[in-house]
Parts: sequence; C-alpha cells; structure tokens
Amino acid sequence: MSVLSQRVGNVKPSPTLAVDAKAKALKAAGKDVVNLGSGEPDFDTPKHIKKAAIKAIKEGFTKYTPAPGTPELKNAVIAKLKKDHGLEYTPDQVIVTVGGKQAFYNMAQAMLNAGDEVIIPAPYWVSYTDMTILAEGKPVIVDTAEERGFKMTPAELEAAITPQTKMVVFNSPSNPTGAAYSRDELAALGAVLEKYPHVFPVVDDIYEKIIYDGVKFTTLLEVAPSLYDRTIVLNGVSKAYAMTGWRIGYAAGPKEVIKAMGIIQSQSTSNACSIAQRAAQEALNGPQKCIKPMLKAFHERRNFVVKRLNAMPGVHCFNPQGAFYVYPGVEGLMGKSTPEGKVIHSTLELADYLLESHNVAVVPGVAFGKDPYLRLSFATSMEDLKKAMDRIETAAKLLTGTK
Ligand SMILES: Cc1ncc(COP(=O)(O)O)c(C=O)c1O
Repeated sequence: MSVLSQRVGNVKPSPTLAVDAKAKALKAAGKDVVNLGSGEPDFDTPKHIKKAAIKAIKEGFTKYTPAPGTPELKNAVIAKLKKDHGLEYTPDQVIVTVGGKQAFYNMAQAMLNAGDEVIIPAPYWVSYTDMTILAEGKPVIVDTAEERGFKMTPAELEAAITPQTKMVVFNSPSNPTGAAYSRDELAALGAVLEKYPHVFPVVDDIYEKIIYDGVKFTTLLEVAPSLYDRTIVLNGVSKAYAMTGWRIGYAAGPKEVIKAMGIIQSQSTSNACSIAQRAAQEALNGPQKCIKPMLKAFHERRNFVVKRLNAMPGVHCFNPQGAFYVYPGVEGLMGKSTPEGKVIHSTLELADYLLESHNVAVVPGVAFGKDPYLRLSFATSMEDLKKAMDRIETAAKLLTGTK
C-alpha cells in the first residue's frame, strides 16, 4: 500500500509559492535576487488595522470564535457588500474563512461531486484547478485570447457549458493578467448564464480595489441580479489592505451553500484567527483612504513596467486594468540560445535562466494555463523594479542577439 493518497498525487504544490520560496532562499544565501514572483503587496498593513489587532490581544480576544466568523465581522462584510455593490445579505449567507483561498476550497468541497465540471478561463489563478481536482471536480479550461484582452466571450462561455457544468469562475481583475471585465461584458456573460439555471457563477473579487485608469469595478450581480440565488461571491482583505499574512477571506451566497461550507470548515480549521478577524473588521469598517497611496504606487509601477517590457526585444506586454501583475508574452524568446549555448525551450527554462543567470524571480506562464508568457508581480519597490527591468532587458538582448 502506498504511503500517500491518490488525491495528493493528483495535485501539485502551488508553483507561485514555490518560486517565491526559491527566490527567498537565494536571497537568504546572500544573492542579490529581485523577487517578482510573489503575489502580495510590499506595503505594510495600515496602522489603524494593526492597532485593532493589538487591542484584541490586550482585551483577551484570543479564544475560539464561532467557526463561520464573528457576528461583528460578518456584519462588516454585509455592510461592505451593501455599500460597494448594493447587494443584500443576511448573516447566514456569509462565512469568514482562512484567507480567500480557503473560501474557494470550502466551496469546492461543499458543492462538487466527482466529475462535476468547473469552467475556468485561462490564464487562471493556479489554485482554482487544483482545488477543483482535490474535490474530484473536473476543470474545463476556456482559453482566452490576448487580442480580446484575455477575457472570456459569451460565445466561449456558452460553448463550454454542458449538462455536467456545476460552476463557472470569474476573476476580475484577474491574477495573472490584470484583465478586468467591463459592465457590458459582464452583463453579456450574465445573460448567457440566465439560460442555464444549473450553473453556479463563482466570482472572485479579491482584486476589486486594485484597478486603474479610473475604471469602476463591477461585480457580476450588479449587472445580472437574477443570478443572485446561485452566485457565490468570494473576497478577502489580503490584497486591498496588504494583509496577506493575516489570513482572512470571506464568501457570500445561498444559505444552503454557506451552511455546507461552514460544516467543512468546522471539521477542518474551525474559525479563522480571532485577532485577525478583529483586524479585518477594522479594515472593512474603518477609513478606506489607506488604499489610495498603495493604488497610486501600483499605478505608477504598472505604467513603468509595461513600457519597459514593450521596449524589450522578443517581449510584448498587455496593459493590465487591475491587480498588480503583468503577463508579458515571450514567444520571441523561445528557441533562443543563451551565451553559454543553452537553448530555451519553455517558459520554465526561461524563468530558471532569469533566476540563475540574472537574479530575477518570475513565474512561468505554464503555471497559469497559458503559455508562452511570464507572470511578473509589480508589488515591489520602484528601485527593485528598475533593477529587474534592466536585468530582464539584458537577458532578452542576449537571447535575441540584440545590441
Ligand atoms: C485570484 C486570487 N484569489 C484568491 C486569492 C487568495 O488570497 P488569500 O488566500 O491570500 O486571501 C489569491 C491570492 O493570490 C488570488 O490571486
């Protein structure tokens, strides 16, 4: 009998966390590595949020809370969804989870049966597919075109729906491309879903606050309210409030689904950290102006990085409307040879070459289901970004033989 389950053999470790770990290890060993692999803001958690956590500790708010979250944090989530999107929820329609990741995980465990299909537009966040597989579901990947802004069209969505479709995942703004659906695009996708009552839309809005060029974020239910009874909204405080380490996410949706997610959670992690819940409550209820300086910095960095990448030989870069990643196409570097005579056949090899020979950590596009691309996070200082762009440019010039 083998030691490990078949289940674990069906999934792979998170490639983004693996790149991050490798870059951090090289840095710790004294190498001057610029890490563009990680998916977290470089800013510190705002002071008023940290204060709320310190207060919670001082008050002894250090015990179990209700497994699906404190009533106060659930109320903060309800108020946020009402204020930002005009959506109405009751406490039994909301669950607080250990990060946005656990919200998707619990939902998949609570809703999927073996063979149920989950439509996932590619490129996608690496965990959707593996969490689907862990729940014995079947990812159905819809390849999106860069020419259409890496967005799934209504026709592509409709073509992917079968009687076995259980869910369709929307992530806007997207990790890894930064693509964000407009109101009209979402309304058109919503109109398709109205025809298929057996399909549950899952909207991952975790990057909603990180959006550029004055674009107003829209969530599916604002333009397709008839889908309310079967839509699961996923979100969290990790990205908007620079709180990745606190591990607070949440979901809102049909009572039956939220209750089932609570059962999974009560038999696995129980509640999210009590102190972090108090901090998240402050993040949602407190002043929102702390987001502004972060957004301004991300905006400047996005402009800088996109411009630099588009000026490099063999590289072209889509201009993201949101999130803090760029997803440059690198087909112009495939099949090229390094000065040492090593031919670069894949983005995995390209990412290795960039890390080993040029001290820049990036994630190969193969991890996100669409290649040949790289994902670069610009949630790092301008100084590091300049260094990284110089190094990638040197590599691109060496590979293409450009002076
Ligand atoms: C699209 C998307 N959804 C959800 C998450 C989960 O975030 P967390 O679990 O850190 O709250 C991430 C994190 O990288 C993400 O990129």
